[in-house]
Amino acid sequence: MPTAVQVNPLQRVSAADAAAWHQVVAASTAHDLPGVPIPDPGQIHAQLTRPALGSHRLTWLATAAHGAAVAVAGLRVFTSPGRQHLAELELHVDPAHRRRGTGSRLLSAAVAACRAESRRALITTAAADSPGEAFCERRGFRGALTLDHLLVRLDETDRADLLRAADAEHPGYRLTGWSGTVPDRLADVFAEAKNAMNDMPMGDLDYGSVAWDGDRVRAMAMVIADRGDTLLTVAAVHDDGTMAGYTEILLPRGTPARAQQYDTAVVPAHRGHGLGLWVKAAMVRRLRAEHSGVTEIETDNAEDNVHMLAVNHRLGFRSYRRTREFQLDMPTP
Ligand SMILES: CC(C)(COP(=O)(O)OP(=O)(O)OC[C@H]1O[C@@H](n2cnc3c(N)ncnc32)[C@H](O)[C@@H]1OP(=O)(O)O)[C@@H](O)C(=O)NCCC(=O)NCCS
Repeated sequence: MPTAVQVNPLQRVSAADAAAWHQVVAASTAHDLPGVPIPDPGQIHAQLTRPALGSHRLTWLATAAHGAAVAVAGLRVFTSPGRQHLAELELHVDPAHRRRGTGSRLLSAAVAACRAESRRALITTAAADSPGEAFCERRGFRGALTLDHLLVRLDETDRADLLRAADAEHPGYRLTGWSGTVPDRLADVFAEAKNAMNDMPMGDLDYGSVAWDGDRVRAMAMVIADRGDTLLTVAAVHDDGTMAGYTEILLPRGTPARAQQYDTAVVPAHRGHGLGLWVKAAMVRRLRAEHSGVTEIETDNAEDNVHMLAVNHRLGFRSYRRTREFQLDMPTP
């Protein structure tokens, strides 16, 4: 199709590139996901320029004849053992410039990069029933997992019920918590608990797995702090010193109203004792006490993750949208 749009790989992301990127993402998100908070320019700049954990990033910017950005693509190429087959695509086309083949051209650039990096799987996320979903289906991706996104408004959580869940007795366990990097004395047991996330339901997504150790959990916390975000953790520790479960909340940089749920995991040997509800209720209590600017939490769960969904419903989370994870299987050379 004849087009004046140019697709260029970015060797280095300048402040102007990041600002252009932000404009495209903001227009695309407002169009497809009304009500979903748009990352601010600082967040986008940090995301594009700060190092990530266990991956490197390739980026493309598509510009129109007058030089304005009309589309962006970012490819996260995973480098850690267990994920070296995988790359993850973020693709946005400004709504005023869609259905002209730009998304397909950016996808071709990303697919070529995946081949060059010997990837067998390219994954991406699209809102259910959105143009992104139609595009993925048309371009050969297969739907691999559906995620239910849930939201809780903190001022609507039943306070008495919440305190009961957070203060419940769990003989043999105690609660602890921290901001940012895990205290050294807990780093190894925290890493062991994080390995419990590897059995999270992932549908047909070839997501691989990550082996956590003390160094990696510290590195992850540093990457998040370097972006300007804040990571809060609440954990249940068993009397024998092992970590039985934990939950993590991310507060995006600035003064966010919406916090983002990261991991929640209970180690298999400690499941069935209500520890998931306990740590999550304690986290909600902590947010209400220490971060009064935060008014809501968003989380997402695989549709078949019945235990986590039950815990979230108990805490007042309600479904408000769905996304689909798509995978493009790359022929191996
Ligand atoms: C998905 C997205 C990147 C597509 O960008 P685009 O430039 O419009 O894509 P293309 O013009 O290359 O579309 C290629 C084909 O995908 C399909 N498609 C794209 N948008 C569609 C829509 N809204 N409805 C139905 N089919 C659609 C069509 O078959 C289209 O070919 P056609 O226009 O000849 O019929 C864009 O809609 C977008 O930015 N969405 C929000 C972000 C997102 O969901 N990203 C995840 C997907 S990787």
